[in-house]
Amino acid sequence: MSPLMKPALEAGIGGLARKAHPWQITPDQFFSGSEECRATAAELLDCSADCVAIVPSASYGIATAAKNVPVHRGQSVLVLAEQFPSNFYEWQRLAEASGASLKVVPWPEDNDWTTAVLNSLTADVAIAALPQVQWTSGGRLDLVRIGEACRKVGAALVLDLTQSLGALPFSVREVQPDFAVAASYKWLLGPYSIGLFYVAPKWQGGRPLEENWIQRANARDFASLILYTGNYDEGARRFDMGERSNFALLPSATCAMKQLLEWDVTRISETVGALNRKLAEAAANLGFSSPAEPLRAPHYLALRRKEAIPEGLPEMLAREKVFVSVRGRSIRVTPHVYNSAEDGERLIACLRRAVAS
Ligand SMILES: Cc1ncc(COP(=O)(O)O)c(C=O)c1O
Repeated sequence: MSPLMKPALEAGIGGLARKAHPWQITPDQFFSGSEECRATAAELLDCSADCVAIVPSASYGIATAAKNVPVHRGQSVLVLAEQFPSNFYEWQRLAEASGASLKVVPWPEDNDWTTAVLNSLTADVAIAALPQVQWTSGGRLDLVRIGEACRKVGAALVLDLTQSLGALPFSVREVQPDFAVAASYKWLLGPYSIGLFYVAPKWQGGRPLEENWIQRANARDFASLILYTGNYDEGARRFDMGERSNFALLPSATCAMKQLLEWDVTRISETVGALNRKLAEAAANLGFSSPAEPLRAPHYLALRRKEAIPEGLPEMLAREKVFVSVRGRSIRVTPHVYNSAEDGERLIACLRRAVAS
């Protein structure tokens, strides 16, 4: 979970405070904040704002995709080994319900996830449900090549970009996915419980996960809401979650995304990548290995060790105010532009002491 920047925190607090004076909130403001968020997200995704829906979580986007892409008996849904649960369980259920099977790309010993996926993308695959970065290793997938291969075999490409959007360049125009979702609270540096969901034009006539008033074509006219209509608002807006105009979360998420755009995602990736490269080198001398770039995403380092991670390491690091995630035999190190070379040196000094003791 990334920290919220001060302006994003202030935007959130300011938005929450508006509810203390609800009479000042006008009907058009149920739309203006959402449209600003949608347009900013579209810039990050490199698509039109009409293709972006506002959702509460990665799982919500995945569930919406699963509700819309047809899968038949004998077909399969492709996922990676150790894929994040929010992009796994939905497909497991869909496969069970439709008589299809779940096809798991085995962990590639050479860390080349792209080749492993391409080798698994056969004609039986109806949906490839993938990330841009494998979350336990930092392994990077070449989504442009995978997108091309999906189109060749007729598989829909559904992406979970939660561990990459905002920190690793991505372009809808280049990858051409069918659906792509990203939760805001990680690399988008936004608040919890909000996310972005890209829906390709060909799916924009589909069924939302839930039906609510604000997705419908007459939502802007509050007086006519009970003149029920079968028509939805334009583009991907029909997939917006209920209460999507969240006055606290949306301005905070939008503020953080604007800052990312100003910093520029390529530059963020290079800055954080340089920090991680140094860390990987120093950690290698202590017996920790990690996949090498370009097979590893520059912003995402998972340090693995043959031996178990020394007991009490996370607590020892926390005492030094170094915060990492320890998962099994690997330490996940995910710095950002707020980290310095000295922060990296503190981590390495701690690791050196832990390994020696
Ligand atoms: C790859 C990935 N996807 C999604 C999520 C979050 O999923 P959700 O928004 O469904 O809670 C995480 C959180 O760790 C993640 O690592």
